[in-house]
Amino acid sequence: MSKIEQTLSIIKPDAVERNLIDQIKDIFKKNNLSIKDSKKLQITKDEASEFYKVHQSKPFYNDLCAYLSSGPIFVMILEGENAILKNRELMGATDPKKADENTIRKLFGISIDKNSVHGSDSLENAIKEINFFFKN
Ligand code: CMP
Repeated sequence: MSKIEQTLSIIKPDAVERNLIDQIKDIFKKNNLSIKDSKKLQITKDEASEFYKVHQSKPFYNDLCAYLSSGPIFVMILEGENAILKNRELMGATDPKKADENTIRKLFGISIDKNSVHGSDSLENAIKEINFFFKN
């Protein structure tokens, strides 16, 4: 059954710094995910802490928030059939070392922290995360 969804994608500081925005956008477009809106910005550590609140009990939370706010990021609303799952398949496993060949994290990720991209993991989080960046 066709299910048109929207999801949030973030190109993280490590990938923005290496000028990978266009290459990553091309991967989404070639896989039938259209970019409905996008912007480049830098967020504060407090904003990153709010964004990653689901991870607040994890030992890596502080480093994660410091990292996401350490430099410019590029955020996108991706839209297409099964966009949430498709984006996660295109990204690959969280740890680039474990990611399948030709996934974004395998191609570009440096480490589990500097893994180049974030993508919403569920419909509920996609709505929250899109609102976080695009709906005031
Ligand atoms: P992301 O998809 O942005 O969601 C949370 C991030 O936490 C994840 O990508 C990783 O970059 C980061 N992270 C750091 N350490 C871990 C870990 N041990 N397990 C999962 N995510 C981790």
